[in-house]
Amino acid sequence: MQKILIEGGHMLNGQVRISGAKNSAVALLPASILADSPVIIEGLPQISDVQLLSDLLEEIGGDVSWDEQTITINPAKMVDMPLPNGKVKKLRASYYFMGAMLGKFKKAVIGLPGGCYLGPRPIDQHIKGFEALGAEVTNEQGAIYLRAKELKGARIYLDVVSVGATINIMLAAVRAKGKTVIENAAKEPEIIDVATLLTNMGAKIKGVGTDVIRIEGVPELHGCRHTIIPDRIEAGTYAIAAAAQGREVIIDNVITNHLEALLAKFREMGIRVEEGDEQLLIAPGNRLKSVDIKTLVYPGFPTDLQQPFTALLTKAENTGVVTDTIYSARLKHIDELRRMNAAIKVEGGSAIVSGPVKLQGAKVKASDLRAGAALIVAGLTANGITEITGVDHIDRGYQRITEKLGHLGANIWREEMDEVEIIQFQNS
Ligand code: EPU
Repeated sequence: MQKILIEGGHMLNGQVRISGAKNSAVALLPASILADSPVIIEGLPQISDVQLLSDLLEEIGGDVSWDEQTITINPAKMVDMPLPNGKVKKLRASYYFMGAMLGKFKKAVIGLPGGCYLGPRPIDQHIKGFEALGAEVTNEQGAIYLRAKELKGARIYLDVVSVGATINIMLAAVRAKGKTVIENAAKEPEIIDVATLLTNMGAKIKGVGTDVIRIEGVPELHGCRHTIIPDRIEAGTYAIAAAAQGREVIIDNVITNHLEALLAKFREMGIRVEEGDEQLLIAPGNRLKSVDIKTLVYPGFPTDLQQPFTALLTKAENTGVVTDTIYSARLKHIDELRRMNAAIKVEGGSAIVSGPVKLQGAKVKASDLRAGAALIVAGLTANGITEITGVDHIDRGYQRITEKLGHLGANIWREEMDEVEIIQFQNS
């Protein structure tokens, strides 16, 4: 088990290249199940969630090969193997095996997903969609059983705008009989990426990127080649790190439109932002003004950047209020930031951040992926050494983060934890 150490205070400068989008990757890989011939996906991020899903595709009989960041998945020999336990429980996105296996085999058994604990994360809207398409869905001893004689297109209104439910219903519907309409669908760029892959596989999908998606089922899908979009959350995280502790940082391989909500807040804070072709320049200057943020569904401010942004606000003058309307309990980073001397109060579900404060290095724990990113941003700006445990969470979503930040000038490294530290970590 490793920990990450950061000696704060070193300025970030130079260029960082963004990897493929985690939250696309974790849906694109299961989507390949729906094809009958090889699917090639280029530019995948090298993160542990991708490795787990690639292993799961092999478990159900997929022929999987890797060439650096390109995967070739031949689904021809895949079978409807039940996956009630094991790797499916290690990540949230294993729920996409439900939609994809139901779409292909008309049945699936998938253990209830794990992943970051951000408060309750129900999947009732996914299940509502599968049932509308004709599946019988039961929960038996922690696994979801899905069975259908046949899947028939249906009109499905999502009660909550959900990325996962929108994608999962698309996966189940592309090979159903007839027409499916998903109303109140989510509009995140990752959904468009998955729909692009499915369309290249022969699916008929209209309206992605709007809140009404129309799907005309087809009997078969074929393989194709697809290049994944860049990770807007990884790009946003480096942009926030640059805003907190950078001189001039260029973020390369980014679709700047995907980050408009964050960039608007940067401009309000007095940070210089220049948008180029697939590049973004962040130059913060000396003084940052505080702002309030409220997370919303896309194109609003992304919940996945709320935690690192909170760390940035500790550097800004005056008070900023952070409210997460997607995951109101996504606040576990706050106690850890306080350990580092941050002045943050939680009132009525919002975090009120006062600044500027000079953060102090401390021993802290990443309780989830983006909390980990927040602690890294904090550690970059802090006096002295910050030691971060819970690194497994960070490695689920950020490809080689210590190397990338090191290349920008940060003094950041990994060490193996000794036995005593591991016991303390497990008991904390
Ligand atoms: N919700 C329900 N019922 C459902 C589904 C969702 O009530 O059936 C609620 C959730 O509890 C939440 C809201 O709807 O309050 C939105 O959840 P959504 O379904 O959109 O989230 P998700 O699909 O489970 C994905 C990302 C998350 C990201 C959210 C919101 C993946 C694998 N995960 O989760 O990413 O925070 O969308 O944008 O795509 C991360 O990358 O750190 C991460 C947690």
